[in-house]
Amino acid sequence: MDKEKALDRIEELREKIHYHNYRYYVLNKPLISDHAFDRLMGELKEIEREHPDWITPDSPTQRAGAPPAESFERVEHPAPILSLDNAYDMEGITAWFDRIAKLDPRVENADYCTEPKFDGLTVVLHYRDGAFALGATRGDSEVGEDITENLRTIKMLPLRIPADPSGPEPPGELVVRGEVFMKISEFEALNQRLQDEGKKTYVNPRNTAAGSLRQLDPSLTAERPLTLMVYQIVTGSGELPGTQSEAVEYLRSLGFPVPEYEVCRDLEEVMEACKAWEERREALDYEIDGVVIKVDDLVLADDLGVVGKDPRSAIAYKFPAQVVTTQLEEIKVNVGRTGVLTPYAVLSPVEIGGVTVKQATLHNFDFIEEKDIRVGDRVRVKRAGDVIPYVIGPVDSLRTGEEVPYTPPGRCPVCNEPVENLEGEVAWYCVNASCPAQVIRNLEHYVSRGAMDIVGLGINIVEQLVTEGLVADVASLYTLERDRLLSLEGFGEKKVDNLLRAIEASKNRSLERLITALGIRGVGTVVASDLAGAYQDLDELGKATAEEMQGIEGIGPNIAEAVVDWFSRPANQEVLRKLRESGVWPRAVPEEDRGPKPLEGLTFVVTGRLEGFTRREIKDYIEDHGGRVTGSISGSTDYLLVGEGPGSKLDRARALGVDVIGEEALPGLISS
Ligand code: IVH
Repeated sequence: MDKEKALDRIEELREKIHYHNYRYYVLNKPLISDHAFDRLMGELKEIEREHPDWITPDSPTQRAGAPPAESFERVEHPAPILSLDNAYDMEGITAWFDRIAKLDPRVENADYCTEPKFDGLTVVLHYRDGAFALGATRGDSEVGEDITENLRTIKMLPLRIPADPSGPEPPGELVVRGEVFMKISEFEALNQRLQDEGKKTYVNPRNTAAGSLRQLDPSLTAERPLTLMVYQIVTGSGELPGTQSEAVEYLRSLGFPVPEYEVCRDLEEVMEACKAWEERREALDYEIDGVVIKVDDLVLADDLGVVGKDPRSAIAYKFPAQVVTTQLEEIKVNVGRTGVLTPYAVLSPVEIGGVTVKQATLHNFDFIEEKDIRVGDRVRVKRAGDVIPYVIGPVDSLRTGEEVPYTPPGRCPVCNEPVENLEGEVAWYCVNASCPAQVIRNLEHYVSRGAMDIVGLGINIVEQLVTEGLVADVASLYTLERDRLLSLEGFGEKKVDNLLRAIEASKNRSLERLITALGIRGVGTVVASDLAGAYQDLDELGKATAEEMQGIEGIGPNIAEAVVDWFSRPANQEVLRKLRESGVWPRAVPEEDRGPKPLEGLTFVVTGRLEGFTRREIKDYIEDHGGRVTGSISGSTDYLLVGEGPGSKLDRARALGVDVIGEEALPGLISS
């Protein structure tokens, strides 16, 4: 290719990749397959490899390229990054309104823009001539820290605006403000991974997002799935929108992920909007701690001025805290899939946000010691959204003297073998590979819906099979004997035949599913699919080096090491040998040869509590079969999946004529 052509092509590729990235991450409406996307990226990388001097910081290849930094540089903000005054109830909102109405008569007739208040970290993003040039933390509101390279790794963040080439021409200078946070489902998956790795888990999504953004090594940030919402224009050259709601629309048209907002004409509407968000809060996959109410007219907003660091024109209505105090009755220990011991609190049952909580995680033994949590303590417990409830700490002032300090167990509570603490890790492990707890957890994972999907092999049966000594690892499922099964309590002919049929059927599962099912640290469905796209079978994957794997988009050093480590263990090699012998040895199917998935093109919204799935599982399940799950109902929603206690979504679905189904209808949809 001559130079001019190559330069044209590189530009064309970048534009396409930015656009498809935006379709995928911001709009959630991909136009091309992952495979086609990877091909574009591959071609771009190839040209950039040949012409390294053509690489620009806003190239899509530069999302995770930067080397670790020594420290963060200081960044002066172009205007103070203000905070907000709070109101805790409707009286507080009315008082705020009265205050500003007295200052300016225009307030009486003003509109308000209401937006969810995301519980994350403020970031300030600078764009120059349409390219992302600098990103900073809020800091002390005047000066923040330069976290550009970390922000670049967030796939939702447009490296170029407009992300859609048909969008408006951006101003030469544009500085916007937004919030970075972590979705609850991603937080739980990350904590699970950290726990499996014997590392300290994070306390809540907010701390996790903060910790992830402040990594000196951007490749670590890149491994954390962070979400971004941009809600404000800080400064910009040229003519800018006159109202907050127009500003949000303008930001949207440039390709930024923006919050849902509602323009309210009076206080009554504002209060309704606040109530609506409060109701929705539980069902969201991200934490919000309130609603921000903003005077929509930005000229008026500016004229109202600032008190301290809070603009008068806006207020945060904060939801009641989801924290309660209760008695810690007992500390128990759970043994995980990798043998990690995790302490949890057994609590006097207590209601938090409409749900009765009886247990809460204590993270790890260091946490109990650091917080000096004792059995019998009154403890503060928090529960928000779908996050697993956690103990914040004891209420010292309520101590009676009867509380008993806790000593971690020296032996595994399940198999009674001594536990070990690995150098540099906070976790204590049961290292007995045949500890029933680990074997059971491994099997549970192996047969689960997102993995080998062996229907009818629930937790109780798994436990029974392990305790009766019929299975000692996942491979022994395939050598189960019919007669032996029939001799078990509760197993009739029909149950046994169904079970054996389901196990047999799992031999046809894809390579992707088998890789997921192996339970390698950090390898969930997404990574498994990346690996299955790059290797023919487990033989090839097992021979791959960590360096080689890191060449695959989406695979970082930690995951690559974990895969190599998993394959290097003799016990795992033995499992692989047995799986192969039993005919559980799928080969990768090239994407071209795959038929359409059964739920392809269908969009689902989920509401209420489901019986057979957590929020994360149902999302995985639907996506696994080609469908999409979104947060709110619109004209393009195909199905509303309702569980117990559906919220306002059900009304909206009915109003829009969206089909309403229960979870039991899913298998039918999939098989048809
Ligand atoms: S507006 C002057 N809008 O809440 C405007 N803030 O307690 C101030 N936040 O530091 C910010 N979601 O980090 C605004 N939709 C939203 C927000 C939001 C979350 C955060 C922001 C701010 C804090 C104020």
